[in-house]
Amino acid sequence: MSLLEVIFKRRSIRRYRSEQIPDDVLKNILEAGRLAPSADNAQPWHFVVVTEPKIKEKLSTGIWNRFIKDSAVTIVGCGYTDNEWSTIDVTIALENMVIAAETQGIGSCWIGDFKEEEVKELLGIPENLKVVALVSFGYPAEKPSPPRKKSLETIVHYNKF
Ligand SMILES: Cc1cc2nc3c(=O)[nH]c(=O)nc-3n(C[C@H](O)[C@H](O)[C@H](O)COP(=O)(O)O)c2cc1C
Repeated sequence: MSLLEVIFKRRSIRRYRSEQIPDDVLKNILEAGRLAPSADNAQPWHFVVVTEPKIKEKLSTGIWNRFIKDSAVTIVGCGYTDNEWSTIDVTIALENMVIAAETQGIGSCWIGDFKEEEVKELLGIPENLKVVALVSFGYPAEKPSPPRKKSLETIVHYNKF
């Protein structure tokens, strides 16, 4: 598949097979995040890679994140609180990881359903970092039908809104 096809066909995956992600495949995903653009090339980020079943279980406490426990890996994207661009930068890095995963046959889902203080405490994330988002990864055990997306005509404006 071309990169465009990968982007066009990606779906959020919330059901995973039990296979682990090989180290080299995971490394590619992390590299895609590491090499992402960031404002002033500050790279104001840290990523906690959660593979331990007990920790994944403890992260799976919300209504919309129960699938974390079934993921092979869940990555917690953190940004420095004193960097005004860190939320955007971490988001770009995580989406790079999502695309890199998809190109390697690994599904993922963004997770905004988390309690920041609980996640920080559980993972020992320092005070000067905020949790931007979590993304779960794993080999897909579902093929979701495409969700409704707005048309280009609705959202794109040429030269003037
Ligand atoms: C910032 C963000 C937070 C999200 N949080 C959750 C979440 O907590 N739980 C969940 O099941 N999906 C979550 N999603 C996935 C969205 O529901 C999904 O992207 C959307 O329904 C469109 O589907 P698609 O990704 O297959 O195109 C989140 C997506 C984004 C970008």
